[in-house]
This record gives sequence, C-alpha cells and structure tokens, in this order.
Amino acid sequence: MTNESLSDFPLALEGDNMPMVSFRKVTKRYGDLVVLDSLDLDVAEGEMVTIIGPSGSGKTTVLRMLMTLETINDGVIYVDGKPLTHMPQGDRLVPASNRHLRQMRSNIGMCFQHFNLFPHMTALENCMEGPVHVLGLSKKEARERSEELLEMVGMADKRNQHPSRLSGGQQQRVAIARALAMRPKVMLFDEVTSALDPEVIGEVTNVIRRLVTEHNLTMLMVTHQMGFAKDISDRVCFFYGGRIEEQGTPDELFGNPQKERTQQFLSAVKEAT
Ligand SMILES: Nc1ncnc2c1ncn2[C@@H]1O[C@H](COP(=O)(O)OP(=O)(O)O)[C@@H](O)[C@H]1O
Ligand SMILES: [Mg+2]
Repeated sequence: MTNESLSDFPLALEGDNMPMVSFRKVTKRYGDLVVLDSLDLDVAEGEMVTIIGPSGSGKTTVLRMLMTLETINDGVIYVDGKPLTHMPQGDRLVPASNRHLRQMRSNIGMCFQHFNLFPHMTALENCMEGPVHVLGLSKKEARERSEELLEMVGMADKRNQHPSRLSGGQQQRVAIARALAMRPKVMLFDEVTSALDPEVIGEVTNVIRRLVTEHNLTMLMVTHQMGFAKDISDRVCFFYGGRIEEQGTPDELFGNPQKERTQQFLSAVKEAT
C-alpha cells in the first residue's frame, strides 16, 4: 500500500460511538487469492458479533488478523481506538513494529477449535502462565485471578489436573479461563465447539452465554451452530468471498434473509442438521 492511501486513515478513533474493533477497507491476499476483500466491520464495545458463512469465506482470517498472526495487504484495523496493524509516526500511519504489535495483542484473547493447553501444566498453571510471565503479576495475584476464573467456568475442582485428564469440554473451559486471565478487551472464539463430543457442547456454550449476559466483553465468534448464534448474538454477519454479504440482528438474518446467497447457505445448513 502506498503512503498516500494510508493518509486516508485516521491516526486514532475517538468519540462516543467509537467501536472497540474496526476493520477499515481491509484486504488480505495469499498470492493471487483475495481472502478478505476491502472488508469494513465495526464491533461496538460489549457487542457479541457472530460470523457465519461457507468454508473458505474468510471467517478465521478475520480472527487471525486481530491476533496479529498475519499482516494485511491493505486497509487498517483499529482496536480500542488505536491502530493495530499500524502505528502513528508524526502525522501519519506506518506499519506496526513488533513492539507495537506485542502491546496491542494484550487487548485480545482467543479460543480456537483445538484447545492447545500446555500439556505439562495443570489447569491452574495454564491460567497463571500468561499473567505471571507476560503481565508480570505476582504468583499470588495470578493464582487468585485464575482460581476465580476457573470457578466461573465450573472447573475449580479440577484445577490441579493436567489437560490429559480432562474431557474436551473441560479443556475448552480451561482454555476460555486462560484467555480471560489476561483481561482482554476483546475475546475471539473460532468454532470452539466443533471438535467436541455432542454431549459436552452445552457446558462450553453455557460459559460463553454467561460471558455475554454477565460481562461487558466485546466478542467476535465464528460458529457453525446456528441455534446458538441465534440465541446469543447481538448481530450476525454472513461472510461470502471475504466480504460481508449480509448482516443483521439474529431475527433479521435467520428469520428474513434478504440475499439469495444467505438464503441458500441457511437452507443448506438446515438440511445438514
Ligand atoms: N496461510 C495461508 N496460505 C494460503 N491460503 C490460505 C492461508 N490461510 C488461509 N488461506 C485461504 O484463505 C481462504 C479463507 O480461509 P479461512 O479464513 O480459514 O476460511 P474459513 O474460516 O471461512 O473457512 C481459504 O481459501 C484458505 O484456503
Ligand atoms: Mg475457519
């Protein structure tokens, strides 16, 4: 991207309606493949936005960009008013340094389909690791915070178990507590129930439900569970070809989809279940 086009983007976002997350004309390519196509997406503070859409439509890429696991080719992403992918230098934006990325990354927590807990650590140690080694909390503070969160996800009694002794649903709940222990402003969930046995899916969705109702966390969630998305989202975005094809409240999007692609996707998903 040229410096000229970067000068179109503000150095920071402010004002009463400042979104917690803002994608501005974000394009991501792998070679010739355009995965995100000039994407505009705002998520308000405290909002729960769900992303649905066919495989390969760019859902995971949106979350990976926010985790700064990849660079973008065009556009700017802002988190909590500050540029994430870029940083101000004088009166313009330049690509973010590693230091800037590290600082900004602490705003964001993520849970994936595969729980990737540290296998050699107990549930409690998994939760304490980041607060101690990244945030610099004392072990006492980190333990208190972690025990509270393990209690919240219903895993207090298993805190001294290693992941191999826990079920998939239990591991996923520990993974959520571990992410929350970093006190992120934004939580990302990518198909967190897809690898789980059906009978334990509810224990994980219930934790996410609690986060929505009891905490003012900003969340972006990718899911194939349309019923769950319908239940808990403030807004649902249907992705197609790296763009938002259609978005609305769950009632609008599921009850009265306007676009043909949305209708086709929703009826195909319905048939599959
Ligand atoms: N590291 C990569 N290199 C090349 N192509 C990739 C890479 N990561 C993702 N893609 C491609 O980007 C597209 C979108 O991927 P993704 O965001 O994972 O889709 P979704 O989560 O909606 O299924 C897919 O076509 C995928 O193959
Ligand atoms: Mg995906």
